[in-house]
Amino acid sequence: MASENVYVEHCKGIHGLDKVILREIRGYSAEVYLFGGQVTSWKNDKREELLFLSNKAIFQPPKAIRGGIPICFPQFGNIDSLEKHGFARNRLWSVDPDPPPCSTHSSTRAFVDLILRHSEEELKIWPHRFELRLRVALTPAGDLLLTSRIRNTNTDGKSFTFTFAYHTYFFVTDISEVRVEGLETLDYLDNLHNRERFTEQGDAITFESEVDKIFLSTPTKIAILDHERKRTFVLRKDGLPDAVVWNPWDKKAKAMADFGDEEYKQMLCVEAACVENPITLKPGEEWKGRQEISVVPSSYCSGHLDPRRVTFTG
Ligand code: BG6
Repeated sequence: MASENVYVEHCKGIHGLDKVILREIRGYSAEVYLFGGQVTSWKNDKREELLFLSNKAIFQPPKAIRGGIPICFPQFGNIDSLEKHGFARNRLWSVDPDPPPCSTHSSTRAFVDLILRHSEEELKIWPHRFELRLRVALTPAGDLLLTSRIRNTNTDGKSFTFTFAYHTYFFVTDISEVRVEGLETLDYLDNLHNRERFTEQGDAITFESEVDKIFLSTPTKIAILDHERKRTFVLRKDGLPDAVVWNPWDKKAKAMADFGDEEYKQMLCVEAACVENPITLKPGEEWKGRQEISVVPSSYCSGHLDPRRVTFTG
């Protein structure tokens, strides 16, 4: 177990589940549960929560936690015979006691590496040996970075194929006052219409009913503008060409046992994903997918979205 310090604390969360708290000196923090390898909280320097976590979330394995950032692997959705969104989000991950340093982000001290490997039980469902390493890092500026490395460790010479998503639930003040920039005019597969392909029309995306779309070949930068709070989430991604936008709206909200009837007003999922073209890895090969989220005052970002200027800081 990594030594305890002011930046990384290992402790117990709800129902005694193991969790890791990351802290930065200006007051930023993030929490990660080993169950699901799931970020459940990300706070700014005013200790305001930036991610949505349902009041009805069930912290009881094997039910995945409703909110935060679930990891969808080895599949996004329920195309295959596998469980919906794969099994990574409802398995117990372990902590790497001796993670490699943050080479590209040397000033970042608040980070943890979680690992998920196939188990004998899993091999019956998905007959592949793998290692999934998730690094969750909180930068001194309060940005939240997630890096996943998936390695094929099969010993039978077989390749495997998967899809993936960071299923991020952003906390918003009022969904009807939210707009998403960076996805306009793109093609998407509509989950509400059997994944039929359409083209997004108009300016930015706004919300007045249920939305469940997989945007294809998206730019590496997407902005989620919360008008009421005058703040913008900026999502940067790498290795994840698609972006899923989901809000269940009122009817679906009522049908979900672990989600409040009115909670759809306070959340929006924008998910950095790789869905349309699944990844295939040969034994020994590794894939890497990153997402970086930050929050800025809205005036800074609105109208200035230029995907070509995206640079990853780590
Ligand atoms: C989204 C999907 O990513 O996740 C939706 O596009 C789905 O179709 C939603 O309803 C929630 O899934 P779950 O399994 O967590 O209820």
